[in-house]
Amino acid sequence: MNKPKVYIAKPIPHEVEEYIAQHCDLEKWDSNEDITREELLERLSDIDGLLTSGTKIDEELLKKAPNLKVVSNMSVGYNNFDLKAMKNRHIIGTNVAGALDDTVADLIFGLMLACARRITELDRYVKAGKWNRDDDLELYGANVHHRTLGIIGMGRIGEAVAKRASLGFDMNVLYYNRSRKKEVEEKLGVEYCSMEELLKRSDFIVIMTPLTEATLHLIDKEQFNLMKPSAIFINASRGKTINEKALIEALQSKKIRGAGLDVFDVEPVEIDNPLLRMDNVVTLPHIGSANMDTRFDMAKLAAENLVKALTEGAAPNIVPELRA
Ligand code: DGY
Repeated sequence: MNKPKVYIAKPIPHEVEEYIAQHCDLEKWDSNEDITREELLERLSDIDGLLTSGTKIDEELLKKAPNLKVVSNMSVGYNNFDLKAMKNRHIIGTNVAGALDDTVADLIFGLMLACARRITELDRYVKAGKWNRDDDLELYGANVHHRTLGIIGMGRIGEAVAKRASLGFDMNVLYYNRSRKKEVEEKLGVEYCSMEELLKRSDFIVIMTPLTEATLHLIDKEQFNLMKPSAIFINASRGKTINEKALIEALQSKKIRGAGLDVFDVEPVEIDNPLLRMDNVVTLPHIGSANMDTRFDMAKLAAENLVKALTEGAAPNIVPELRA
């Protein structure tokens, strides 16, 4: 029997490639530069499966790939999927939920600590030779432990953040989610509340929802206006889950204390973005899952999803909207 044909549009470890090659005829993008959309579109005419992340899977791409059955995303986010177009073509779409929860939760905590204790700002201060007196009140930050954390989006990563906050930092944890998670409440002692209440009561607000039509600009001017002036806002989901202009305005007018951002409206972030010139904002280049171990696990899971979906017609990680 002929093996299914797959195209690997992202670099993956050799071992993972070998696993795919046992089950599929494999072609891959072999360059350190990212594949462009034009180049990708030219390679899809006879493929059954695609392993990628970030590439828009829309009608244009699907037309170029008449045999395509499976798109395996090597990321947990799948806002690159045009779900309607994929559903119409009965495409199986998968993500790597579960492979990066703790890694992203660690980074979110890093952002919370860096913002509250002004770690990156004061690192620059020391290195610039500005440290010339003891116990300078100007350098004081805020506590993380025993404060109130509000988590918007209690998925796997939200839960991993709640665990650190509740068990490790004795924080009072509030959460808002489409559906209530009673088992998480019992396990971690977190409290479910409305978005409005969460925004009003929290010292730290972490948004961790996937980007969908419903969550586009979920946090906008109205929501920033509800936050405490001492609030620290963290986004490690997708840049467009918030209105970045409203965030900039909230920071400039001191409606909130600071922000920690791993994601931006436009990525890579534009150099003239005012967020890059604010000392009370910690910025990162979308590195939530970026370490060798986790990226290996993500590649392995994406490969398993691809192979299982092509050979068995089902995979453990089909995204919710595309499940039968
Ligand atoms: C994901 O997997 O969606 C993350 O944003 C990657 O860091």
